[in-house]
Amino acid sequence: MAVKFYLPENQVPLEMHKVRVVQKLSLHPVEERKNLMQEAGNNTFLLHNKDIYMDMLTDSGVNAMSDLQTAAMMQADDAYAGSESFYRFARAVKDVFGCDYVLPAHQGRACENILSEAFVKPDKVTLMNFHFTTTKAHITRVGGRVIELVKPEGVIPQSTVPFKGDIDLEKLKETIEELGPENVGFVRIEAGTNLIGGQPVSLENMLAVSDICHHYKVLSVLDASLLQDNIYFMKKREAQCKYMETKEIYHLLADKMDIIYFSARKLGFARGGAIITHNKKLHDTMMEYVPLYEGFLTYGGIDVRSIEAMTQGLYESLDMEYLSQGPEFIEYLVNELSAYGVPMITPPGGLGAHLDAQAFVPDMPHNQYPAAAVGAALYIAGGIRGMERGTLSEQREPDGTERYAEMELQRLAIPRRVFTLSQVKYCADRVKWLWDNRQLIGGLEWVMEPPVLRFFYGRLKQIGHWQEELVSKFRQDFGDSL
Ligand code: F0G
Repeated sequence: MAVKFYLPENQVPLEMHKVRVVQKLSLHPVEERKNLMQEAGNNTFLLHNKDIYMDMLTDSGVNAMSDLQTAAMMQADDAYAGSESFYRFARAVKDVFGCDYVLPAHQGRACENILSEAFVKPDKVTLMNFHFTTTKAHITRVGGRVIELVKPEGVIPQSTVPFKGDIDLEKLKETIEELGPENVGFVRIEAGTNLIGGQPVSLENMLAVSDICHHYKVLSVLDASLLQDNIYFMKKREAQCKYMETKEIYHLLADKMDIIYFSARKLGFARGGAIITHNKKLHDTMMEYVPLYEGFLTYGGIDVRSIEAMTQGLYESLDMEYLSQGPEFIEYLVNELSAYGVPMITPPGGLGAHLDAQAFVPDMPHNQYPAAAVGAALYIAGGIRGMERGTLSEQREPDGTERYAEMELQRLAIPRRVFTLSQVKYCADRVKWLWDNRQLIGGLEWVMEPPVLRFFYGRLKQIGHWQEELVSKFRQDFGDSL
């Protein structure tokens, strides 16, 4: 935190920006919230945004843009080929990461599609600290397999380990040797490891992974979608990074990794995505897929205005005053809730605060989707929309059996530069109410289960009538309040 308050009790995160455009919100009465949740099949993805007070579904594509980003959008150069907007973006990539080669793609998963097409073949194995939903779906779609090598402490919910996203280096070496380097598609490090609670990876670990990859001549890939938050934690929690400029860290990583890709919906407060590299041969291997799946090489399926926003956003991703806002708000929310006794993923990570749903409703079996049930209950309790990151977000095994998630998380994302601290406080208050009434939360069962990425649009219903009971308890406690 750059600014200290005089009175210790006033110490809260202080924003180094002000709000100049606002959007009206609505908060419906609790009975209506229950009906809307049920109409949405108890799936927070299927709610309409107009019915939500705090949209904590994701930090993707919903970060507030800066004045300079919106101004930059005005100079967009509309052209199918050779747009100056793209060349400005390529220059920003060169400045921020030092890389010469840039392939634009419309968002992060489009980069994953290209990487999977280019480097994963049937029976090839991709090694990573932890999978992300879209990453694994793309790899398995082309016949590849994923092995996760996060250290065991990464999936222990409450912890003081500062870098829970670190790869187990010994296991990485052993696995490459067992499989044979020729059978490894690539090794992927996910910065700000999403599904284990936005947990960072240390610079030391990233560099060691890259050395191991070079030793075995295996491709190293960094998913930098959540690198902004990760760099904040490197600077806060890792001695060697404390006095490094953020740009030095970006450059060092780009020098060491063969390929970096990112979703600009997260990195750079914009929309879009890109794959970048120093290596012309790798660039050329991936290039053919851009016109095939995305669009011509100088727009890659991204609107040119968004390319301008990405360009300015990349420069802003060097600025610690911008970088720190998300993680500091998350830490505030995690600390408030932990102080109330609510089981949270600790230490606080990036992206959002994560409720440990397994501890929230300990008697609920995985196949009643505890994390989704807590999410449905929270929308009813407060008009707050989170995202299930547990068994519901997993893919079933090829034989149709459930794959139970290592952790059942309900994620409360904090999009960057969007919420005020009083809204975050409201969220903490409603979660605390739900925690005190957790015995009322019941399970969910499928009404319609899609075969692929089921969490996006599957529909479920409550088991029993617990949602009606939750509403009447809310009325008892809050009277006629919204
Ligand atoms: N990699 C990571 C680490 C991500 O968190 C995401 C997206 C992607 C890749 C895919 O990027 O959405 O632009 O296609 N995460 C979003 C989320 C969807 O809500 O966590 P995308």
